[in-house]
Amino acid sequence: MEHIRVVGGARLTGDVTVTGAKNSVLKLMAASLLAEGHTTITSVPEILDVDDMGVVLTRLGVTVEHVGSAVHIDVPAELGTEIDYALVRRMRAAINLLGPLLARCGRARVALPGGDNIGSRALDMHVGGLAKMGAQIESEHGYLIAHAPSLTGAQVFLDFPSVGATENLLMAGVLAKGTTVIDNAAREPEIVDLCTMLSEMGAQIGGAGTSTLEVEGVERLRPTEHETVPDRIVVGTFAMAAAMSQGDITVHGARPEHLELVLYKLAEAGATVEAAGRSIRVTMDRRPRAVDVVTLPYPGFPTDLQPMAMALAAVSDGAAMITENVFEARFMFVDELVRLGADVRTDGHHAVVRGRAKLSGAPVRATDVRAGAGLVLAGIVADGVTDVSDVFHIDRGYAGFVGQLRGLGAEVSRVEGAESLTF
Ligand code: UD1
Repeated sequence: MEHIRVVGGARLTGDVTVTGAKNSVLKLMAASLLAEGHTTITSVPEILDVDDMGVVLTRLGVTVEHVGSAVHIDVPAELGTEIDYALVRRMRAAINLLGPLLARCGRARVALPGGDNIGSRALDMHVGGLAKMGAQIESEHGYLIAHAPSLTGAQVFLDFPSVGATENLLMAGVLAKGTTVIDNAAREPEIVDLCTMLSEMGAQIGGAGTSTLEVEGVERLRPTEHETVPDRIVVGTFAMAAAMSQGDITVHGARPEHLELVLYKLAEAGATVEAAGRSIRVTMDRRPRAVDVVTLPYPGFPTDLQPMAMALAAVSDGAAMITENVFEARFMFVDELVRLGADVRTDGHHAVVRGRAKLSGAPVRATDVRAGAGLVLAGIVADGVTDVSDVFHIDRGYAGFVGQLRGLGAEVSRVEGAESLTF
């Protein structure tokens, strides 16, 4: 098994360019199913999840070609409707095929997803919303089995602004009869990106980026060409890396307006943050000050940057409280950070982090994609060698992460078969 080996101590400096967002492109690929014909998605990152989604679509009868940073998708008139467990066990986003399949085919059999180990990640809002639109959905032998000869617009109130549920209901609503209103909808930039692509395909959607989405169903959609929104979580990861390593990084291809709170927190920690057009420069010339972080749905602090915020707090001056409000098990990686010498105490969804001047390199395990990135950053500010295992998690969401970090001066590499014990 491959590891990522980090030799700590580098100050990261230089330029890095980000591409499209994992959390958007997977849904854009799902949305392509809604129209027969050739859809092209550009600014696509080279990550495992995109490959996996490509395989899933292929099994449905779709032709998928990933050429450079573009994915070309040819959707036939007749689609398969079954997505088996082998395909979805590590990619939760496959659940986002439920809405488009129901809208296009009137039925779907989708294995209950796996993905990150960060909490129960229930599907009640997906299922409840689709049921309100006329779908009959049962769960049997690890599969969701859904039928909806016709979907009808409905008013759906979400208990929580779930990203995945909002996306599924949107994709079901665009071809439903009548009007669908999604209240307490998620407002993430990736939702706006999906709304933009659906509108380019001919969908009638009002309120994108607000908590009320109004969708007027249409007869059919047409294929399109669409550029994926930049990955704000990858941008935020490099911004955090600059602050932690007391470095100077300029991230290109970013949308600073999607990271306002994150950049504000970095400024509070003592970094100089300059945003100009599509670039963000973060410079830090001293040890960061500890800052509290509370994760919330957008525009709150993203839960996907919580591990990096915790790693930053671990080397900051003072104590910080990190509160996780989105995924209950997202503190699972704290034990790994503690192995690197971090002083963290958790109580329910709060963690108190008392900063230390340096962490201390050790073998650790990536427990999910973002925790993995957080641990690599922690390794950069640790003394000695940190070996991060289970790096497939990182490969799910970060394209060429090791190469990018090396370009910024980090001593980091992929190594084969480091330290494996058999009992
Ligand atoms: C997406 C992102 C993930 C990000 C998260 C929140 C993708 C592929 N993943 O995940 O990186 O961290 O948004 O920004 O885009 N919930 C329910 N019932 C439901 C649906 C959700 O209880 O029917 C709960 C979940 O268990 C979780 C919370 O709501 O505690 C947020 O989940 P949701 O916003 O749906 O996240 P995902 O779409 O799974």
